[in-house]
Amino acid sequence: MKLADNKATLSFSNGSPSVDLPIYQGSIGPDVIDIRKLYAQTGMFTYDPGFLSTAATQSAITYIDGDKGELLYRGYPIEQLATQCDFLETCHLLLYGELPNEQAKKTFTRTVTIHTMVNEQMQFFLRGFRRDAHPMAIMTGLVGALSAFYHDSTDINNPEHREIAAIRLIAKMPTLVAMAYKYSAGQPYMYPKNALSYSGNFLHMMFATPCEDYKVSPVLERALDRIFILHADHEQNASTSTVRLCGSSGTNPFAAIAAGVACLWGPAHGGANEACLNMLEDIQRMGGVAKVGEFMNQVKDKNSGVRLMGFGHRVYKNYDPRAKLMQETCKEVLGELGLENDPLFKLAMALEKIALEDDYFVQRKLYPNVDFYSGIVQRAIGIPVSLFTAIFALARTVGWIAQLNEMIGDPEYKIGRPRQLFTGSLRRDVKPLAER
Ligand code: SDX
Repeated sequence: MKLADNKATLSFSNGSPSVDLPIYQGSIGPDVIDIRKLYAQTGMFTYDPGFLSTAATQSAITYIDGDKGELLYRGYPIEQLATQCDFLETCHLLLYGELPNEQAKKTFTRTVTIHTMVNEQMQFFLRGFRRDAHPMAIMTGLVGALSAFYHDSTDINNPEHREIAAIRLIAKMPTLVAMAYKYSAGQPYMYPKNALSYSGNFLHMMFATPCEDYKVSPVLERALDRIFILHADHEQNASTSTVRLCGSSGTNPFAAIAAGVACLWGPAHGGANEACLNMLEDIQRMGGVAKVGEFMNQVKDKNSGVRLMGFGHRVYKNYDPRAKLMQETCKEVLGELGLENDPLFKLAMALEKIALEDDYFVQRKLYPNVDFYSGIVQRAIGIPVSLFTAIFALARTVGWIAQLNEMIGDPEYKIGRPRQLFTGSLRRDVKPLAER
């Protein structure tokens, strides 16, 4: 970042001395006012719950232009990556800053492939869960438990440890998600098959059984790989900020990623794809497209507490480019599977059309986000609704790790420790029990 020739001057109407604050510029996007010395100079904090106007860090990984609906991973538009690259090339890009050449791609793919197995002891953690446990409850436990197996890569300040931990997490997440699924289905776990692609191997571990061979469908393999690319990273979203704050204490990468998994689970964040599909199924049960108007009235009624899940975004005030690509993937997969008339897809398209013409949504700049169509395509692939957010966590692990490693590699980083505006009781003395 570089110092701008502009500066901010903070003046106070009560005559307190004004304060000059430096402004810094990045390579693209909004400048920042550096308030690091504000408390020392004024005795006051800034106030920004939800971080609507706060840049918590500088980063060179992902750029979002919410007004244009633009998403770049290390400068490359998501539309080009999703159609011209595969997920492991995207992982290489996010982790190391460049797309791999032929040789680098072979080496990186091989390195990830040979780390896809988990320690045999990991299977015993699942036995403690009920078979109907939510997969994200299982994933929060399993990812955190990984730190018990890799004492050789938990020193976050050691670049080699950071590198091998990144590879292990990217490689093992599909195996753990597939294990969570098999456990819920009461089926035996399937070991990874190194001859398969990253996404093909995940489909194998999910849907193969020891009883017969499983043939990976190239269409589903490609669709899943694109879903992983679209979910790989997204600037300083809630779960990434959680991973950064958790990692800033110096804890090991497995624990920090487990914190990200827990945060992603929320319906306002990664849990929205599951919530969106459940919403579509509810409307379908109520009567489908004929009931969309009634449902939209509920959404627009503040007291109903009903939201159009998969719509709206803190940053995008235009169409989420990932939603467009997800809709295209939806059409391709449904077409390949002969499900063009999938009622939920038609219902989603009807909802989107109505919302984009409705003043309530237009005024608030609410558009479909990445979660609006992702559930429909995952359901078509055969993935159960409850596993959608675990798939999101699988894909986002590379973004979390890249952002965590960027933070730890930044000599300026400190442990994150926000302050507050205190509105509670002033000092008072404890009364003896008999007098309370
Ligand atoms: C993800 O940050 C990221 O990058 C996240 C993510 C990533 O890749 O990491 O992109 C992934 O989490 C996508 C978002 C998934 N969540 C949902 O689809 C859940 C539904 N959407 C929302 O709850 C909401 O839009 C958020 C949480 C996504 C954004 O919330 P904000 O920015 O805090 O906006 P807000 O709640 O203040 O809403 C602004 C207005 C409000 O109305 P008013 O009070 O101004 O009258 O818009 C309304 C809200 O009521 N609104 C909605 C709505 N989303 C916002 N009304 C109906 N349906 C919705 N979905």
